Amino acid sequence: MSDGKLPKLTEIPAFTEYIAQGWDSPARTPDLVPGAAEAAAAHRALLAGALPGRTAVVSAGRAPTRSNDTAYDFRVDSDFSWLTGCAVENAVAVVRDGAATVYLPPPARPGETGFFADAAYGELWVGPSPSLAEWAAALGVEVAPLADYPGPPGDALPAEELGRTLAELRMIKDEWEVAQLRAAVDRTVEGFAAVLAEVPAAVAGGGERWLQGTFDRHARTYGNGPGYASIVGSGAHAPTLHWVRCDGPVREGELLLLDLGVETRSHYTADVTRTFPVSGAFTAVQRQVHDLVERAHRAGMAQVAPGRPFTAFHHAAMEVIARGLDDWGLLPVSVDEALSDAGQHHRRYLICGIGHHLGLDVHDCARSRPEAYHGAEMAPGMVLTVEPGLYFHAHDRTVPPELRGIGVRIEDDLLVTADGAEVLSAALPIDATGLENWTKETSK
Ligand code: GLY
Ligand code: MN
Repeated sequence: MSDGKLPKLTEIPAFTEYIAQGWDSPARTPDLVPGAAEAAAAHRALLAGALPGRTAVVSAGRAPTRSNDTAYDFRVDSDFSWLTGCAVENAVAVVRDGAATVYLPPPARPGETGFFADAAYGELWVGPSPSLAEWAAALGVEVAPLADYPGPPGDALPAEELGRTLAELRMIKDEWEVAQLRAAVDRTVEGFAAVLAEVPAAVAGGGERWLQGTFDRHARTYGNGPGYASIVGSGAHAPTLHWVRCDGPVREGELLLLDLGVETRSHYTADVTRTFPVSGAFTAVQRQVHDLVERAHRAGMAQVAPGRPFTAFHHAAMEVIARGLDDWGLLPVSVDEALSDAGQHHRRYLICGIGHHLGLDVHDCARSRPEAYHGAEMAPGMVLTVEPGLYFHAHDRTVPPELRGIGVRIEDDLLVTADGAEVLSAALPIDATGLENWTKETSK
C-alpha cells in the first residue's frame, strides 16, 4: 500500500547492497587535449617567474543555478584552465613556484551511496569519472581530495593582483596556444560554410535563429561550443552590436551579419565576422557601406606588427571611417575635429573599439592594466581581432533614409609574428562576392 511517499533508496539496506555490486570497470582516463598538461606546466613556470615565492589560488568555478537543482552548462574558469589544463567543476588549485596541488571532488563510485544518490558526482548521474590518481598522472601535478583543501593560505596573492598578472601573462600565446587558436579559427571558417548553406532554409522561414542554431550545433560538434553567444543579425538587426536574440526573419535583399566563434575543447575561441547580402548581390548602397568598412579593415590590419602601438589599428581604421563619413556628409564637424579626443562624432556609428585580444576568452586579458593593454606595443605571439564596422540604426534620424537599417562589420583574427602579422581567418573571403563563390567551392 502506498502512503503517498516514495521509498528512500539510501535507507534500504537490500537496495544499497544490491546496487553496490556487479559493475565492470569502465574507461576512466581523463580526456585531456594533447599537450594541455605540458602547456599548463609552462604557464605555471611563467607565473613563477613573474611572482617568485608567491602563492596563487585559482578556482575552476561552478555552473550557475538555472532553477532548483538544475544548472546552466559549466565552463571552466580561464585562468584555472591556463594554469592546470584541467576543467573539473568546483576544483581548486594552489600554485607556487611552478608546482601545483589541484583539489578535486572525488567521483562517487559503486559501493558509495553517492554513486546513485549524488547528482553532482555520482557516476550513475554524470558518467564514469577519473580517480584522483588518474588525474594526477594526466596533469603531472599533485592531486588531493577537495575535502582536504585547507582554504587559501595566509600569504595567497590578492585576487585582483593575481587576475591582473595572469591577464598580462596570457597576452603572449605560446606555440601550443597558437595551434589551439588556429584550430578554433579553422573550425569557425567551416562553421561559416555550414551556416551559409542554410541561408535558403532561413529565408524559407527558419530566420536568424535557424542560422544561430546551425552554427551552435557545428561549434558543439567540432569544439566545446560557441565561444560567446553567436550573433546573427539580418536587415535592421545587423546594426545592433550584440544581436544575440536572433528572433527575426532573414529576407532576400537584406544584409546578414554573422559574428561567430568556435571554442575548442581546450577552451580557446575564434571571433570572426562577415556581412553579406542574403540574395548574393549587394544593392548599391549596401556595397558603398561594405566598401568603406572593408577599406577601414584593411587599413587596420596593415598596422598589426610587432613594435607598433596596440592602438595603431584602432586609429588607422577610425580615420578611414571618419573620412568616409565626411565624404558622405554625415559628420556635423570637420574630420580633424571628429578625430580629436574632444570630438569623436564618427563614433555615433561605431561605438565599440576596433579590436581586442583573443584567447581563452573572446575578450582576452581584459583585466590587464591599461598601460599593458591599450598602452602597450604589439609583440610576437599576441592574437587579436580587427573588427571595424558601421552601424546605421533604422531609427537614427541623422542618416539619410537609404542608409537606415544597414549594419556592416568585418572581423578577422590575427597573430602577431616576428616581422608582421598572419591573418588566421584569411581562408574566409572578406568580400561578399568572393564569399558566394567560396561557398559554392567549399560545398562542392
Ligand atoms: N564578437 C563579439 C565581440 O567581440 O564582442
Ligand atoms: Mn570581437
